[in-house]
Amino acid sequence: MNLEFLGYKTLIIYDDYNVKEVFLKDINEVYEICKNLENPEENFEIQYQKKYKLDNEILLSEQKNFIIKNENVPKLYNSTQRDIKVGKNVIIINPSNLYECFLDDNVFVGPFCEIQKGVKIGKNTRIQSHTFICELVTIGKNCFIGHGVMFVNDLFSEGGPSGDSSKWRETIIEDNVSIGSNATILPVKICKNVVIGAGSVVTKDIVESGIYAGNPAKKLRDIK
Ligand SMILES: CC(C)(COP(=O)(O)OP(=O)(O)OC[C@H]1O[C@@H](n2cnc3c(N)ncnc32)[C@H](O)[C@@H]1OP(=O)(O)O)[C@@H](O)C(=O)NCCC(=O)NCCS
Repeated sequence: MNLEFLGYKTLIIYDDYNVKEVFLKDINEVYEICKNLENPEENFEIQYQKKYKLDNEILLSEQKNFIIKNENVPKLYNSTQRDIKVGKNVIIINPSNLYECFLDDNVFVGPFCEIQKGVKIGKNTRIQSHTFICELVTIGKNCFIGHGVMFVNDLFSEGGPSGDSSKWRETIIEDNVSIGSNATILPVKICKNVVIGAGSVVTKDIVESGIYAGNPAKKLRDIK
């Protein structure tokens, strides 16, 4: 028996919208075709056939099905409010991404915020736009968390992000704390009746009421 590969392959691409049959010189063409499909799905089911010549007859001798990932199509998730618990009169402006957290009565969350699992926010607290509140953060009552405030739970103390959440550390913000725009709050405790200046980086616990600012944040003065 004399089998000779004909030097081309048949590729059939299935997705919800298209069935195409093409002849390929090179498997790299698969990627080009996937890129150019209308309405491309994330993955394509590919039927790949090699054709061989047998005694001047065409014989289909090999057929494989496999999945090829279309790397040019992003995986899209919408922002969500999933499994959150809320008190009365809570307002959330979308788009914001909140999950498995608790917002007590009258909490306001501005747009483009993320509030993660286990976060608790007390009554009447306002979270302004673009703020990120990670796991292990608790915020008290009557607080003002300004625009773009970033909380941190992973200190990268072992040279980079730790996938092990047991290494993350908690932050507790007590009642009546106002945090200025663009401040970064490392894992600390901040006692009640404190103001944190805009752009500050809070690196240590604050145990005394007052106004704090700078990087690292230091006390400027008492609240009059
Ligand atoms: C921290 C803050 C409350 C201090 O206000 P203040 O008591 O009136 O302070 P002053 O403006 O008199 O400044 C006192 C000193 O602190 C410095 N300072 C003030 N705010 C600072 C800040 N955010 N970061 C670093 N230093 C700051 C001033 O430069 C000044 O320094 P100097 O004594 O060497 O000149 C205020 O500056 C601030 O940052 N507020 C945050 C407002 C905010 O983000 N609102 C969000 C909603 S829009």
